[in-house]
Amino acid sequence: MRFSSSTLFLLLLSFAFHINLSSAEGAVDFRKGCDISNGNFTANSTYEANLNRLFSQLSSDQDFKYGFYNMSVGQSPDQVNAIALCRGDQKENACRSCLNDTISALQKGCPRNKEAIGWSELCTLRYSTRKIFGVMETDPFHALWRVDSQAAPRDDNDFDRAMTFLLKNLSGGAANGNPLFKFAAGETISSQRICAMVQCTPDLSQENCSACLARGSDRMRSHCYGITGCRIVQPSCILRYEINFFLDDSAVNITDVPFSPPSPSPTEGS
Ligand SMILES: *[C@@H]1O[C@H](CO)[C@@H](O)[C@H](O)[C@H]1NC(C)=O
Ligand SMILES: *[C@@H]1O[C@H](CO)[C@@H](O)[C@H](O)[C@H]1NC(C)=O
Ligand SMILES: *[C@@H]1O[C@H](CO)[C@@H](O)[C@H](O)[C@H]1NC(C)=O
Ligand SMILES: *[C@@H]1O[C@H](CO)[C@@H](O)[C@H](O)[C@H]1NC(C)=O
Ligand SMILES: *[C@@H]1O[C@H](CO)[C@@H](O)[C@H](O)[C@H]1NC(C)=O
Ligand SMILES: *[C@@H]1O[C@H](CO)[C@@H](O)[C@H](O)[C@H]1NC(C)=O
Ligand SMILES: *[C@@H]1O[C@H](CO)[C@@H](O)[C@H](O)[C@H]1NC(C)=O
Repeated sequence: MRFSSSTLFLLLLSFAFHINLSSAEGAVDFRKGCDISNGNFTANSTYEANLNRLFSQLSSDQDFKYGFYNMSVGQSPDQVNAIALCRGDQKENACRSCLNDTISALQKGCPRNKEAIGWSELCTLRYSTRKIFGVMETDPFHALWRVDSQAAPRDDNDFDRAMTFLLKNLSGGAANGNPLFKFAAGETISSQRICAMVQCTPDLSQENCSACLARGSDRMRSHCYGITGCRIVQPSCILRYEINFFLDDSAVNITDVPFSPPSPSPTEGS
């Protein structure tokens, strides 16, 4: 069976809005992944004590370090390893408060899981008995958008191309970051302004950060098609674009990325 491109567009759009409705509680922008395969801990166990120690260290840590925290508490098999990362444009207070909220949300949402991950708008927190430092992971993932997001004008595919172009540029910049900071943000203009950011946990190698963001960018194109603002959240990296400016530009550079569409190759057709 073949669909005309406009039928396909409508199908994709209704698929997208279906997801949108089913995740409409997402006004708060929090998503979690509780790993049920990695086991549960019991009340008053050593693991629980280690996890609570980790949470309190994370809430009180004096050293901001670009909003990146990799920590490990206790001894195997009750060792808790954690990575926490605030969005690169956020300052210490907003970061700390996001981590506090995310800790509470995970305590409620994944109360007994030894491994869990929570994505808030401004920070990500994951913990596990496994070693997770330096390991690139793209699953589980979520595609999130605001309920008031509009369908983008897609008739000329300009928006999609400009978004992909911008994400590719920013991904190169973020992957090229340093061991504490792998973040890039920028804007481009095609049929309209697009503002975007991408970020890896900075423990990733340049190569693994690129791979994580490339996977996220592909997911963005398929899951966010036709939406004016969207986030892809994965354990090792996150991506977001909006038609509105959504970043705090007081501490980071927002790159102006002129959109230069690749000239159509002769084999591309129509
Ligand atoms: C962990 O607890 C959940 C309920 O909270 C249960 O459904 C699941 O089977 C448990 N997993 C293991 C490995 O015990
Ligand atoms: C855990 O410890 C608390 C306080 O010591 C106690 O009230 C509770 O009964 C204990 N729970 C279990 C499951 O042992
Ligand atoms: C945290 O990261 C540093 C490198 O940035 C590494 O040397 C250290 O071992 C890590 N700590 C933990 C607990 O994984
Ligand atoms: C985070 O929680 C800790 C301990 O619960 C508290 O001392 C701190 O003030 C909180 N920070 C923010 C920014 O909410
Ligand atoms: C990349 O990530 C994989 C896990 O996905 C890890 O096994 C590997 O060591 C990482 N490579 C580098 C160069 O960091
Ligand atoms: C992104 O675009 C800016 C502005 O055109 C350019 O200076 C930069 O080199 C580009 N970065 C990458 C990784 O392509
Ligand atoms: C922003 O860009 C300027 C000029 O390229 C550079 O000097 C500065 O360090 C950058 N600031 C940040 C926070 O990256």
